Amino acid sequence: MSLAIDDPTPSAPACADDGTWLACIECEETFAPFEAVRYTCDECDGLLEVRYANPPTFEDFGEGADSEGPDRGVWRYREALPFDLGVTLPEGGTPLHRVPRIEEAVGVEALRIKHEGMNPTGSFKDRGMTVGVRVAKELGVDALACASTGNTSAALAAYGGRGDMQTLVLLPKGKVAAGKIAQASLHGARILEVDGNFDACLDIVQELAARGEVYLLNSLNPFRLEGQKTIGFEILEEFHADYGVYPDRIVLPVGNAGNTSAIYKGFRELVQSGALDPEDVPKLTGVQAEGAAPMVEAIEEGADEVRRWEQVETRATAIRIGNPVNAPKALPGIRNTGGTAIAVSDVEITAAQRHLAVEGVGVEPASAASLAGLKKLRRQGVVDDDERVVCLTTGHLLKDPDAAYEAGGDPEPVPNDVDAVLKHIRG
Ligand code: F0G
Repeated sequence: MSLAIDDPTPSAPACADDGTWLACIECEETFAPFEAVRYTCDECDGLLEVRYANPPTFEDFGEGADSEGPDRGVWRYREALPFDLGVTLPEGGTPLHRVPRIEEAVGVEALRIKHEGMNPTGSFKDRGMTVGVRVAKELGVDALACASTGNTSAALAAYGGRGDMQTLVLLPKGKVAAGKIAQASLHGARILEVDGNFDACLDIVQELAARGEVYLLNSLNPFRLEGQKTIGFEILEEFHADYGVYPDRIVLPVGNAGNTSAIYKGFRELVQSGALDPEDVPKLTGVQAEGAAPMVEAIEEGADEVRRWEQVETRATAIRIGNPVNAPKALPGIRNTGGTAIAVSDVEITAAQRHLAVEGVGVEPASAASLAGLKKLRRQGVVDDDERVVCLTTGHLLKDPDAAYEAGGDPEPVPNDVDAVLKHIRG
């Protein structure tokens, strides 16, 4: 397996459809993209990735694209995607917040927060789902499913509903934040609560998909990652427009490691097309919660494979995952960019969540892991003070109202009387 930053532009195999095909990252077997439902390699069960005969340049994006389409968000990058438009709400085009006070406190040259919580259902999953549901339509399937720690289920329910398809979600019982269950439910998903963790839910839904009962829209589905790679494109374009350079590092929370894989893939395509110098690819830096850190363990041990953690626990329930299925794509992403991975405690996550919140950036606990990780890496001297960094915040504060309530101050009861209120405020 290679997945090097500077892999040459692949030449299209005979099975390619309009310059697009699927390739196994382990054995390089290739498949026509839409002739059959397929999640992993028929030959060796390795992970698949979508490949293009013409990887994108920056000029292909937006106004430069020669097909009709929106001028912001995921579909602005249609030249780098398998279709020109999908089932859209629309998604992407999220803010890259300036946070000068946090920047100073952390002590880096520049810090920006890419707030993916500002997507239609409040997380980055929407970027993958708009593409995934479009592919489901192409394949002619009508029953969609996923296992989820919450956000994927909310996105699947919303996009599946908009695409007039049935949606089924499997959630770990008692471990999904209230806002996410409310979304999945109201957007019309059938919700199954499994007496097990996320990894068990994924095992079950993968088997249902293998038996042809449902179309799987977890990040194991290579088309989901196509949408998510646009996060990296947006960061590069916007950061460069403001600073004249690309960020040195992107710090992001890691669960199933789909996002890490997706962003790396987008950068590799820009390198393949000659649009991006391999030296300019930001260092991908993954952050996990201490109670669910199998990727960090693999990076620290220099291991090629990730050991599945059977017991996982963290307040950041979105990343309460012990078996990151995209690790074979994400480990090269971290290593080949010169990045690293670090685990943070729930206390550190909550502190970072509060720190972002006082700047007006409301994020759920898992999202705050990125800033918590950056702070720790600065303390350890791994991140230099002259670095320009982007932290990804993946989900909105309102996703997990209970965690937000616990992290914030308590409301103070006062009598229904102006003088008494004044006395209370001053006292
Ligand atoms: N942040 C949030 C808010 C998430 O919901 C997730 C994953 C991640 C980070 C990790 O992303 O899996 O690509 O490494 N949530 C999935 C879900 C597992 O079911 O919603 P990853």
